[in-house]
Amino acid sequence: MPARDPPRSATPRFAIVAGAPDYPRLPELHALVADVYATSDTMSETFAERYPDAAALAGELAALRRLPGALFLVAEAAGQPCGYLSVKPRKASRLRHTADLQMGIASTQRRRGVGQRLLADALGRLAAGGIVEIVYLMVRADHEAAIALYAAAGFERLATLQRDTRIGERYFDGVLMRRFVDVPAPSAGR
Ligand SMILES: CC(C)(COP(=O)(O)OP(=O)(O)OC[C@H]1O[C@@H](n2cnc3c(N)ncnc32)[C@H](O)[C@@H]1OP(=O)(O)O)[C@@H](O)C(=O)NCCC(=O)NCCS
Repeated sequence: MPARDPPRSATPRFAIVAGAPDYPRLPELHALVADVYATSDTMSETFAERYPDAAALAGELAALRRLPGALFLVAEAAGQPCGYLSVKPRKASRLRHTADLQMGIASTQRRRGVGQRLLADALGRLAAGGIVEIVYLMVRADHEAAIALYAAAGFERLATLQRDTRIGERYFDGVLMRRFVDVPAPSAGR
């Protein structure tokens, strides 16, 4: 089971900004994503597969910008990226009201409410945008922290995909979660 982070510490001051291809702190953002992948064994692909360099990340930001309804948000603390969240609408013409969500928080900034704030901000933007109606995500079944975060944000568990992930000889179940964007948010905890 992944290590549990320590209990919540003081909530940092941070801002949430849109991550565009010309995001001024792209190397720092790339380093943040590297940190997230290096400190979590629950990701379905390796960092090297996903973002071999900052240019690959910039390429994804550019691709997202071309997709109606897509989001890439960056949480910044003291001007430095400390969390990210992406919402990528599906490409098929009849699935464009649905999207897949991914996110990560810097290892030093976890359990401070950054993930919760990013999720709430993203859902607000999606509701205002009126394009994406349904958000899906996959999370490993043993990732209790993430499942708790998503459930608190109104995501429901749809299915357990047995042996969905294989790392070497070990298999892990996956959980498919869904949130309808227009469903009112659960009462805010803070
Ligand atoms: C999972 C992750 C996104 C959570 O982000 P975070 O900013 O640390 O979460 P928050 O501080 O906003 O926590 C919100 C709620 O989520 C749950 N939660 C978050 N971290 C938790 C932990 N380590 N253990 C138990 N519950 C946790 C709690 O319910 C928490 O509310 P509470 O603090 O009032 O109890 C972050 O740990 C992370 O980036 N992990 C590595 C990458 C990853 O796993 N991404 C998701 C893949 S599906």
